[in-house]
Amino acid sequence: MRYIDLRSDTVTKPTVKMREAMFTAEVGDDVYHDDPTMIELEKQAAKILNKEAALFVPSGTMGNQLCIMTHTKRGDEIITNANNHIIVHEAGALAVLSQVNTYQIHNDTDMIYPQDIIDGFRADDVHAPRTSLVCLENALSNGTVVPLDIMKADYEVAKSLGLKVHLDGARIFNAAVSLNIDPAKIASYADSVMFCISKGLCAPVGSLIVGSHDFIKQAERNRKLLGGGMRQVGFLAASGLIALNEMTKRLDDDHKLAKYLASKLNEFEIIELDESKVQINMVFFKIKIPDFDHQAFYDHLSLHNIKINPQDHGQYRFVTHNDINQDDVDKTLRLIKDYLVKIA
Ligand SMILES: Cc1ncc(COP(=O)(O)O)c(C=O)c1O
Repeated sequence: MRYIDLRSDTVTKPTVKMREAMFTAEVGDDVYHDDPTMIELEKQAAKILNKEAALFVPSGTMGNQLCIMTHTKRGDEIITNANNHIIVHEAGALAVLSQVNTYQIHNDTDMIYPQDIIDGFRADDVHAPRTSLVCLENALSNGTVVPLDIMKADYEVAKSLGLKVHLDGARIFNAAVSLNIDPAKIASYADSVMFCISKGLCAPVGSLIVGSHDFIKQAERNRKLLGGGMRQVGFLAASGLIALNEMTKRLDDDHKLAKYLASKLNEFEIIELDESKVQINMVFFKIKIPDFDHQAFYDHLSLHNIKINPQDHGQYRFVTHNDINQDDVDKTLRLIKDYLVKIA
């Protein structure tokens, strides 16, 4: 059964080429640093983002948390936006694993501005937690991209205050495509970066963290502590190499399809959608009908093999990716139209 799955880019299946590469991958015990395919993936990841070293981790969440754990001490405070993934979607791991306080910025854009860092930074005082880290995100979970000049200004302020900067770059390649710049430029404004190969890049599993040699060495120790030392993991690295070298090149197709979907959805008068916020592969919209039956809308699409996430605070998010094509989007639009005509 083929579904049109618009829930997320995490649903992408590995490509045929990835499956073949995984089947034939040369592998070894990675805890002994014996896996040549993983060594190659980590080498290439560091090179692409212009950092000294990289480390493979099973998930983006583990990558973010490992970086935070490695940068901080128990009781430190980190500055971040209240809507960032590390706050909202990582199961409270900050409190459990690193045991850090958070200074959370609340605003409409979900971005962090230099003044926020200045405001959040705590003076050296026996009563106060020690501010040690700024956690940025780009692309943001709300589907927009942080302009490079904001990242640069954040980084410079953080450095002037003696703070480290971590970037949740789960979709750093989407951000780079959207900004039309080298991803290394984005990474240059962070001491550590986490990015995912298992989302729009189609690898079945995994993320990488990058940073200095010393940082990655310490993070590797923390990865082991969390039970994340892996053995013949080159099978995953084989798909990761294709993700990095080939799948990053096609992300613009997803962005274009998302923009097309957004422009067509915007033709429905009862849909509220800000096209200027469609900057990567995510389309957010609301249906402006009072007492709209969200469950019936969801069921209508489900019945036609279209998978979506339920609305969240009245908002829908549709995500385009490698397993969604133009026909899928047109079919979805047709079915939404049918539904809206039926209930009008
Ligand atoms: C911005 C962002 N950061 C981190 C993650 C965590 O990745 P994972 O689901 O692999 O733990 C996600 C997942 O969707 C994400 O969107």
